[in-house]
Amino acid sequence: MGRLVFFSFLSIFSFLITFSDVMIPQKHVMALPLSTNSRWIVDENGRRVKLACVNWVSHLEVMVAEGLSKQPMDAIAKRIVSTGFNCVRLTWPVFLVTNGTLGSLTVRQSFRSLGLLESISGIQANNPSIIDLSLLDAYQAVVSSLGNNNVMVILDNHVSKPGWCCSNFDGNGFFGDQYFDPDQWITGLTRMASMFKGVPNVVGMSLRNELRGPKQNVNDWYRYMQKGAEAVHSANPNVIVILSGLDYDKDLSFLHNRQVNLTFSGKIVFEAHWYGFSDGEAWKNGNSNQVCGTVVDNMMRKSGFLLDQGWPLFVSEFGVDQRGTNVNDNRYLGCFLSVAAELDLDWALWTLVGSYYFRQGVVGMNEYYGVLNSNWCETRNSTFLQQISVLQSPFRGPGLSEARPHKVIFHPSTGLCVLRKSMLEPLRLGPCAESDAWDYTPQNMLRVRGTYFCLQTDNLAKPAKLGIICPDSNSKWETISDSKMHLSSKAPNGTDVCLDVGSNNIIVTNTCKCLSKDKTCDPESQWFKLVNSTRRPTWTKPSSRMSSILNFPPKDFLWRLEGSF
Ligand SMILES: *[C@@H]1O[C@H](CO)[C@@H](O)[C@H](O)[C@H]1NC(C)=O
Ligand SMILES: *[C@@H]1O[C@H](CO)[C@@H](O)[C@H](O)[C@H]1NC(C)=O
Ligand SMILES: *[C@@H]1O[C@H](CO)[C@@H](O)[C@H](O)[C@H]1NC(C)=O
Ligand SMILES: *[C@@H]1O[C@H](CO)[C@@H](O)[C@H](O)[C@H]1NC(C)=O
Ligand SMILES: *[C@@H]1O[C@H](CO)[C@@H](O)[C@H](O)[C@H]1NC(C)=O
Repeated sequence: MGRLVFFSFLSIFSFLITFSDVMIPQKHVMALPLSTNSRWIVDENGRRVKLACVNWVSHLEVMVAEGLSKQPMDAIAKRIVSTGFNCVRLTWPVFLVTNGTLGSLTVRQSFRSLGLLESISGIQANNPSIIDLSLLDAYQAVVSSLGNNNVMVILDNHVSKPGWCCSNFDGNGFFGDQYFDPDQWITGLTRMASMFKGVPNVVGMSLRNELRGPKQNVNDWYRYMQKGAEAVHSANPNVIVILSGLDYDKDLSFLHNRQVNLTFSGKIVFEAHWYGFSDGEAWKNGNSNQVCGTVVDNMMRKSGFLLDQGWPLFVSEFGVDQRGTNVNDNRYLGCFLSVAAELDLDWALWTLVGSYYFRQGVVGMNEYYGVLNSNWCETRNSTFLQQISVLQSPFRGPGLSEARPHKVIFHPSTGLCVLRKSMLEPLRLGPCAESDAWDYTPQNMLRVRGTYFCLQTDNLAKPAKLGIICPDSNSKWETISDSKMHLSSKAPNGTDVCLDVGSNNIIVTNTCKCLSKDKTCDPESQWFKLVNSTRRPTWTKPSSRMSSILNFPPKDFLWRLEGSF
């Protein structure tokens, strides 16, 4: 009994540490410029920098970064930082830099020419210093405001003719289209690259958004993209050069058999876009597991394979209607997040924008995909931000390895991970930063690193538990269904069950649901992804001696504890 008291005391001790000693993750100062090391983007010290960007629109008719009539640019930059992003993909139209008449318009003149008088008074109130600057100077002011807040910027050439993007027949889709003159485009890229040479927070330039339309073809892709890349690199060798694919930036499959041929290396990144609507209404009209399986296979074939070829892949647009009312978007999101976490992708969310000055003929259009609300002050949906926050720090990569490779058990529909807070409590979802290191053994056990504890089923709808008699049929976990995101095992009486989340975020097991065919039901509470990580938990573990005592208690003690779960 003496021993039992001793161990209980230590368990409580560990419990207290867990809750009282949460450390803030260290902010690392990045040593710019960036370059690439195989599939990773790294800083001057060779340490991985994960791009966790948000798109900020500045390519519509007014050619001014959106939102400046609602909030001061410094406040917006600080909001970007406080919502966990480290970077902005800032869009621009070619004509801004190739048409002197447009580029030298002042902000006031640009708004006035479109009759947007209310926006003028908004800018006068919130950003008076830019109202009489030229459009180009105002663009630079936004970039330096982001720089003052340590936000990296990727200059994204979104269109040639200012305006909302994109359709197959808008004249901006492919080289040779009505507004898309390749030489003018090269001139524009060169000017932008030169203009921001020596501006350290401008870390990259993406050459052209969403190539598309009837003229698109692979030969012209190589011909012009290589030319564009060389032009940018010779004007500004510091920036990473980002190349997008065909078919609205969904398709880079042609790189399977033909590499780009450039005079420089260590600076090339590929970008791809992936939305729910990229697959029409497949999500809404199909079974989520089956659609996820198919869509991910396609994505890997068309762009994901580049990681295995040793190129970084930047998913420069993804996003959902944050009202949570679009079924197609909702079903896509969990699948997207699981892949983005598993591959530890660099990415840019569409979009920061809460509302537009003027989009597609509408004044003040609300943006339901936007992080900010239409006033640009509060965030639109904190649940959504929580869900994507796990992607904002790297799981792994050069210069980061703080812990030996292990797994975290990620639950995409909440953005949380399975945590073992203490021996006295059931397993629960919590912040991934606090996740234990799990091992997924060759016997398909899920074991807490450095311990004998493995995940086990109890009876249906009961909390899953940690046992030490493993392996056993109720501690073998297989990933099933087309999405491979159901973790399935057997209950003690032999029934197949799946890991699930019950009330208060407690991890339970239930009958496996919606594995195939059914189009109406939602499997997401049972979606888990085993993600490779070398992240160190942000809380301090008890010293190794104590934890080794903690982690190897005598069996009789464990059995008692299990009864109390
Ligand atoms: C520049 O833009 C203005 C306004 O859209 C247009 O009238 C003019 O033709 C353009 N100039 C050139 C050289 O493209
Ligand atoms: C790559 O480009 C260089 C210079 O433009 C050319 O000489 C070379 O033949 C090209 N290589 C391939 C494999 O196309
Ligand atoms: C935020 O998103 C969640 C999940 O999609 C949804 O249930 C909720 O209603 C949204 N909240 C707001 C304020 O739109
Ligand atoms: C995760 O790690 C395992 C074991 O090292 C490896 O086989 C697998 O390919 C990794 N997965 C990814 C997505 O890198
Ligand atoms: C196993 O137990 C569950 C209840 O926990 C019950 O619903 C199920 O029918 C049982 N299966 C067998 C094979 O006994």
